[in-house]
Amino acid sequence: MNKKTVKDIDLKNKKVFVRCDFNVPLNEDGKITDNRRIVGALETIKYLLENNCKVVLCSHLGRPKGEVKPEFSLAPVAAELSKLLGTEVKLAKDVVGESAKQLTSNMQNGEVVLLENVRYDAREEKNDPEFSKELASMAEIFVNDAFGTAHRAHSSTAGIADYLPAVSGFLIEKELKFLGSSLENPQRPFVAILGGKKVSDKIGVINSLLEKVDTLMIGGAMAYTFFKAQGYGVGNSICELDKLDLAKELMAKAEEKGVKLMLPVDTRLGKEFDPNTETKVVDWTEIPDGWEGFDIGDKTIEMYTQELKSAKTVIWNGPVGLFEFDKFAIGTNAVAKTLSEMEDATTIIGGGDSAAAVEKAGLAEKFTHISTGGGASLEFLEGKKLPGIECLMNK
Ligand code: 3PG
Repeated sequence: MNKKTVKDIDLKNKKVFVRCDFNVPLNEDGKITDNRRIVGALETIKYLLENNCKVVLCSHLGRPKGEVKPEFSLAPVAAELSKLLGTEVKLAKDVVGESAKQLTSNMQNGEVVLLENVRYDAREEKNDPEFSKELASMAEIFVNDAFGTAHRAHSSTAGIADYLPAVSGFLIEKELKFLGSSLENPQRPFVAILGGKKVSDKIGVINSLLEKVDTLMIGGAMAYTFFKAQGYGVGNSICELDKLDLAKELMAKAEEKGVKLMLPVDTRLGKEFDPNTETKVVDWTEIPDGWEGFDIGDKTIEMYTQELKSAKTVIWNGPVGLFEFDKFAIGTNAVAKTLSEMEDATTIIGGGDSAAAVEKAGLAEKFTHISTGGGASLEFLEGKKLPGIECLMNK
């Protein structure tokens, strides 16, 4: 990476402002259901503590839209961080108000303060220079480790870098290594699996991957748009009728690039959008009216599994079925299991729902890298420049 990291700057005994992405999922009781993003930030925080820094942490949680709403408080994150770090993380009651000023102006070396949800202040998402300056006034160095929010040009992710020396943390460095350089020069065969609802959400990433991969497998609801584009019925399945030409163009581009584009050959249908609905598997050309496709079928699972087993590098973005319902998690779980057993291959999950699916299947430890980004990983894979990374100092 050509951006400076915490290792390239003298930060001993300094006061450091660290932007993390602690936007973690919470259940109805306000309990964290997946702490991966918090765990992902630990290496940088520990490094700063080892260097005797005063650490000011900042993050958003959800989309409170500039209003103070208790359900978006970072209190559960402060508690989880204290537990994981084994040291108290003090939570300021506000972002740049009295409480934040008081806690951050009287810090000892080795102390950690977490500011309240930065999106409680409407100026954050406007990348307001005054607000960026106020955030910057709390520290001497800016460390961005919020990979999941690096695609947002906000005050705490980008604007603040106008006022402080800015470097990346270890998480961003790692994400760029796996989503960037390891996919630029992959060991081959290089296979991508793309799922998700809409072709329109994935056009950028499909186009970008068609330049790099040997095989591209399609799953998820977007497969039905490809079926329809070839003139077949899709019953009640999700289908983007205005994207049929696009699907055809992508198929033609794959052929032109010599990429093996794999589409499901069968599909698991449900009568209704209901976890207990009646199900059946049919060939992709035979989806009857009144049924909806929610997963890849058994023949597709077999075909995809065989292809995957010979791969040396795999990038996976998007579940291949409605994995939230057990009856339609069969394809996604099969892909996860196959990848988890490929010990000699580099297996990368491009974040979002496929990361959640692997977590749910208890296989997270078996992958080379699971990105903490959702939208950020997609934009990065599309080849877009991310403001939270562009703003950092070059090496
Ligand atoms: C995410 O979960 O994708 C990031 O935390 C960014 O959140 P946002 O989409 O609300 O900006």
